[in-house]
Amino acid sequence: MSRLFVTGTGTGIGKTFVSAAIAHAATRAGRTVRAYKPVASGFAENELRDSDPGVLVQAVGKAPELEAVNDISPWRYTKPVAPYLAAAGEGREVPYGAVVDFTKEALRGPEDLILVEGIGGVMAPVDRLHTVLDWVSALSIPAILVAGTYVGTISHTLTALGVLRAAGIRVFAIVLNESQGSPVSAAEQGNAIGLFAGGVPIYVLPYVEGERSWMRVPCGSLVDAILRKPSCATP
Ligand SMILES: Nc1ncnc2c1ncn2[C@@H]1O[C@H](COP(=O)(O)OP(=O)(O)OP(=O)(O)O)[C@@H](O)[C@H]1O
Ligand SMILES: [Mg+2]
Repeated sequence: MSRLFVTGTGTGIGKTFVSAAIAHAATRAGRTVRAYKPVASGFAENELRDSDPGVLVQAVGKAPELEAVNDISPWRYTKPVAPYLAAAGEGREVPYGAVVDFTKEALRGPEDLILVEGIGGVMAPVDRLHTVLDWVSALSIPAILVAGTYVGTISHTLTALGVLRAAGIRVFAIVLNESQGSPVSAAEQGNAIGLFAGGVPIYVLPYVEGERSWMRVPCGSLVDAILRKPSCATP
């Protein structure tokens, strides 16, 4: 049984894409998989199919219907900003304690692999007192850190890695998800990050054009590592 929290250096970096790629590949490999997005901002019900929870539902082979989305993503906000701000804009508050309880319960599920996509970057505020970092810490599961390959990635990745480690969170892997138009190759970025990453494995995923390309992105070695290492289960 593997449980992983998927966080990133920032928003729009590919957390959903990477989660969907892993979930899809593991499902194809015959494993039972669930991917959660407990808190989502920038959510529009009329764009269910392309929403984060909608993509995660499809990645495990289900139709992106509201009921399935409700199951994996109970707290949804319209504005595409940090959850604390998105909720405040609607006169609401993200119920942080309930979010943690929901996620812990989800992690107790029977599936072979359970992924939890966070929101924004490691230090995005969930409510006025807690960041994503607090949320991961409360779960005691390892994290996957998703980063881009744009110029600036090295420092952003190592900063996020340092913060996760300082909080005692085990980083299972860094995934460098290729940014379009970067003048530096992902391999070069990965080598440079590796010099300072203290042995955390680094996987590179290429940018793949087209609809639902998370189905086609080559992520076999990452998924093998996840499925081979039941030690990433620790709840
Ligand atoms: N390797 C890739 N190849 C092709 N498209 C990609 C790739 N990675 C990400 N994308 C696309 O880039 C966009 C942003 O990625 P994604 O939604 O996964 O980011 P995110 O980190 O989950 O963002 P958020 O902070 O909003 O949750 C999406 O449209 C996604 O399909
Ligand atoms: Mg996302």
